[in-house]
Amino acid sequence: MEYSEQRIKIAVQKSGRLTDHSIDLLERCGLKVTRSKDKLICYGENMPIDLLLVRDDDIPGLVSDDVCDLGIVGLNVVEEKRLKLEQEGSKGMFKHIFELEFGQCRLSIAAPENVQYDGPDSLENTIIATSYVSLLTDYLTKNSITAEVVFLSGAVEIAPKLGRADFICDLVSSGNTLRANALREVAVLLESEAVVIQTLAPLGDEKQALVDKIIQRLDGVLKVHDSKYIMLHAPRSALPQIRALLPGSEVPTVMPLEGNDDKVAIHAVCRENVFWETLENLKAAGASSLLVLPVEKMLA
Ligand code: PRP
Ligand code: ZN
Repeated sequence: MEYSEQRIKIAVQKSGRLTDHSIDLLERCGLKVTRSKDKLICYGENMPIDLLLVRDDDIPGLVSDDVCDLGIVGLNVVEEKRLKLEQEGSKGMFKHIFELEFGQCRLSIAAPENVQYDGPDSLENTIIATSYVSLLTDYLTKNSITAEVVFLSGAVEIAPKLGRADFICDLVSSGNTLRANALREVAVLLESEAVVIQTLAPLGDEKQALVDKIIQRLDGVLKVHDSKYIMLHAPRSALPQIRALLPGSEVPTVMPLEGNDDKVAIHAVCRENVFWETLENLKAAGASSLLVLPVEKMLA
């Protein structure tokens, strides 16, 4: 394919928690791409829009440097980059357009279970490991805390066990990683979710019109929400765990199963798409006979 400068380039996380949702969202905006996880570029088949699959940490830089016109990335990554540039005395060449209502997580400080924490003062003169040096440094400065910030690019949660840090500052979503490492969340620095960012570089009329169209469609997709009706059977005892796994659901309907006192049928409306991964997690939690249906109309 001949590469034209008139094509819109959107930076998307290559593989991680935002990947499927990001591509799914763009497809719901009418974009058809050939998905290929090992390729750097996915070409749009029906619109002059291509996806660049990259590491999430690189997305703000790619948009800022005008390599990509738009990016879909966690606010945590955007804010870390923005602060880093600010601390270096430069300005990020990207603007934050809007929230995409998925990829919710928070950047938090976590302490080993046996270590006391009575507020930010407990961090004084300690060592804190993180991949989010700028956001953590900013938090410490605002709270007038002096602490040593150690940068680790990954596996931050094992730093206390290895004796490399007293506390960690990392992303928490389900909390499973913290629990598995005998850590507990003690302070939230930032609430995050996936956002769209756009380059500040002028795009030219044709490209800007296409970007505006995509943004308008994204907005439309988000307003409708991709609700699903999910039905499953589960042991009564697994009910709390199953409820926690249902994406964006309200109180589910729980019904007895004829001739089986230990099992119940659960029906719930999920206000988010239900991915295979969610179904697999539900199955692992004890669910069976899983069925997912699209919701056509709803009247609350
Ligand atoms: C984050 C973080 C933890 C994990 C927490 O990494 O570093 O390892 O997720 O999630 P949990 O609370 O659901 O267990 P992520 O997978 O986002 O990868 P990245 O930081 O390398 O982008
Ligand atoms: Zn990352």
